Amino acid sequence: MSGNTEWQLSGNAAELYEQFLVPTIFVPWAQHLLSKSPPQTGQNILDVACGTGIVARMAKARVGSTGRVVGADLNAGMLQVAKAVANDSLIEWIESDVADIPLENECFNTAYCQQGLQFFPDKVGALKEIARLLHPNGLCFAVVAQSLDQNPLMRSQVDALTKHVGADAANGIRSVCGLADGDEIAGLFEQAGYVDVNFDKVDLTLTHSEGRAFVQNGILSTPVAGIISDWSETARNALIDDILTGFGEFYNGTSLTFPHVSSVVSGRKP
Ligand SMILES: C[S@@+](CC[C@H](N)C(=O)[O-])C[C@H]1O[C@@H](n2cnc3c(N)ncnc32)[C@H](O)[C@@H]1O
Repeated sequence: MSGNTEWQLSGNAAELYEQFLVPTIFVPWAQHLLSKSPPQTGQNILDVACGTGIVARMAKARVGSTGRVVGADLNAGMLQVAKAVANDSLIEWIESDVADIPLENECFNTAYCQQGLQFFPDKVGALKEIARLLHPNGLCFAVVAQSLDQNPLMRSQVDALTKHVGADAANGIRSVCGLADGDEIAGLFEQAGYVDVNFDKVDLTLTHSEGRAFVQNGILSTPVAGIISDWSETARNALIDDILTGFGEFYNGTSLTFPHVSSVVSGRKP
């Protein structure tokens, strides 16, 4: 498969991601994720593949000044935005591949990985590396989008990009739904040595009052931004029209209200 399948953003895409995708998609998921195991005052929390850091920011508000929060991500542009937005020198940001995070063993109570696991080339290796960083009995939570069929946001973009550019051009979006089977993810946790592995299918309803603006800015916040950034306004509008049409019943001509379905998997380090 060619194309950007590790969700690597460049240019101003990380700023747009924080501005347009985070409030609509990643804040609701982070609220759900943290509600599964709310960080307690003084705990140490790791946000793996933190992107612009929404989970780390929300966790920091809960653990307070006596807790430690670290966000780790491969992408320097995402981390630059994370630092600027957090405006909190007490969150530590580390530029690192999940395969080898430069931190000491057994220093975190809980690790969260929100919409990151599907992009890691060695998923079991990544889960083992996270386990190395957890205390015994520490918990790891992952949120991973389910199939394109269940996620009109990604499906409509994949269909429209395939039509307007070609199948390879859609790979950056298709990869979001590339680890769609929650039971498979639970198996990866078990292979990595976690116990008490649990898998829930969670269906959030997401909404944006200005559907067209959301889709237009949203696609420029993804790895496919580079493909369409120099298109004419006419060509870009035709793509946006097809994405909005692809939402079907979830677009009323003005606003979008659509299901976003993910696996939420957790495990405990023995
Ligand atoms: C869709 S974003 C999710 C970001 C964040 N967790 C959130 O909820 O907004 C996926 C993130 O995974 C990161 N990523 C992909 N492969 C990675 C790897 N091998 N190691 C660390 N981070 C990685 C990307 O840089 C990107 O920031």
